[in-house]
Amino acid sequence: MKVLVTGGLGFIGSHTVVELQAQGYEVVIIDNLSNSTLDVLNGIEKISGKAPLFENLDLRNKSEVQRFFSQYSDIEGVIHFAASKAVGESVENPLLYYENNLSALIYLLQELQKKTEVSFIFSSSCTVYGQAEKMPIMEDAPIQEAFSPYGNTKQIGEEIISDVAKVSGINAVLLRYFNPIGAHETNFLGELPIGVPQNLVPFITQTAMGLRQKLAVFGDDYDTIDGTCVRDYIHVVDLAQAHVLALKRLLSKQQTEKVEVFNVGTGKGSSVLEVIQAFERVSGKQLPYQIVGRREGDITTAYANTDKANDVLGWKALKTLDEALLSAWNWEQKIRSV
Ligand code: WQD
Repeated sequence: MKVLVTGGLGFIGSHTVVELQAQGYEVVIIDNLSNSTLDVLNGIEKISGKAPLFENLDLRNKSEVQRFFSQYSDIEGVIHFAASKAVGESVENPLLYYENNLSALIYLLQELQKKTEVSFIFSSSCTVYGQAEKMPIMEDAPIQEAFSPYGNTKQIGEEIISDVAKVSGINAVLLRYFNPIGAHETNFLGELPIGVPQNLVPFITQTAMGLRQKLAVFGDDYDTIDGTCVRDYIHVVDLAQAHVLALKRLLSKQQTEKVEVFNVGTGKGSSVLEVIQAFERVSGKQLPYQIVGRREGDITTAYANTDKANDVLGWKALKTLDEALLSAWNWEQKIRSV
């Protein structure tokens, strides 16, 4: 039985492939290398000892997707990561995001709905909640108007999946990620942002490495413990393992609804300044930073209620913020040492 991982050479995808292989699944990766390199395939093989099957394919090409599924007719599970994910870029170039994130999903689902039964895990995001009223955020928190086309593609994607699951053999789990950070303990896999990092932790590690002059902290006048935004930073390996458990749940027909939703976070919120302090503690580096104005589109606070993931999915984040930050720092030093 094969499991398809789209975007399997990406940050979260590659860590998930390793965890799937560790559980004995045979993995086929589809990736168009738009935000990754083949080195990641080597990294996966160094960790698991097994090179996954790999198809360099763009899911926006409908005929290529059809050809793939006629060639691989024994796919029983799909984990769909492939998507563009830069919030700022999506505001500047919305059609790139609607075309890439939605047509790829639609072509994939068109092939999957031909199957009698198939398990489908969707990479969603806590972005769908906007600024939730109540903390920690539960899965039944209202979906609010998206702050960006990126966030809107996640909301629309969830709706498309729900509508198709109702009339097909597709059984789906939507995993709403909080903030994935860190790297694999072997240092063979980690985050590889292209250009200037948009996200906090890779910007911190690049600043500590001397690649960036200083970190700009986007605002300290929010209604939080120290005025800076609060997020739920989850180690990417913990997040990867949530995907394996979600897949197992569907393959073993334990799901209770055609579409199930889980928030995947640690349940703990950390402010930007707290992340900086934690990073300085684990790395022993002094991090140069400056408080600047707020970033457009940032919400104040988001951290997960993890009861459902703990009790229903049987998953719990095991790694601490310190461990995640240290793993990110070790990875940054490794990729700059070559
Ligand atoms: C975290 C905090 C910033 C950079 C986004 C997407 C989410 C997911 C993760 C894809 C915020 C502050 C950041 C910097 C800063 N993406 N910050 N200086 O915005 O919570 O989530 O990325 O799946 O869907 O919405 O993550 O890391 O960009 O920011 O002060 O140079 O760090 O203001 O408060 P975010 P982030």
